[in-house]
Amino acid sequence: MSSPKIGIYPGTFDPITNGHTDIIGRAARLLDKLVVGVAVNPGKGPIFTIDERVEIVREEMNHLGNGLSDRIEVTQFSGLLIDFAHQENATVIIRGLRAVSDFDYEFQMSSMNAKMAPDVETVCLMASDKYQFIASSLVKEIAKLGGDVSQFVSSRVASQLGERLKG
Ligand code: COA
Repeated sequence: MSSPKIGIYPGTFDPITNGHTDIIGRAARLLDKLVVGVAVNPGKGPIFTIDERVEIVREEMNHLGNGLSDRIEVTQFSGLLIDFAHQENATVIIRGLRAVSDFDYEFQMSSMNAKMAPDVETVCLMASDKYQFIASSLVKEIAKLGGDVSQFVSSRVASQLGERLKG
């Protein structure tokens, strides 16, 4: 019997958006198991703590439907992505590509990861057209300025953002 196909989907998820959830659902259908890796990433100055981000992503996964959540695990990581991939026995790194502007960075990152870990393949999924433009930092900016973010994140995430940014 062949070994299960395990992939990881890494990101900061500050917060998780509808665009991320779309990629997660589509990736999970291609794999036996998908590990969503929430990067500690203090350099990005996240507004939610690592534990909060993991909890929020887990909650989103519980609402995915089609039995997909059974195939998804959410865990935090720090350090090198390829070390995390090896630790999880993952052979695939999933990335979402939104626009041509994402390509340079993704190309560079996947090439460097491939040099360090040739056994791990990066697979890019194109963001669905309705989510092409979403970025977590813009969602935060809109929420901070009192705008409505309900088209970009789930109602759960929108209310958590509202709570965090109150005052
Ligand atoms: N839908 C919506 N938004 C998306 C998206 C999608 N499909 N794909 C990406 N984004 C957004 C993210 O929300 C994020 O927005 P923000 O910058 O406004 O917050 C932005 O695009 C960048 O996302 P991403 O490229 O995934 O960066 P990230 O910070 O979320 O994650 C890591 C980057 C964690 C994968 C990367 O830093 C890493 O691998 N770190 C580990 C250290 C390491 O191994 N380094 C060597 C790499 S060669």
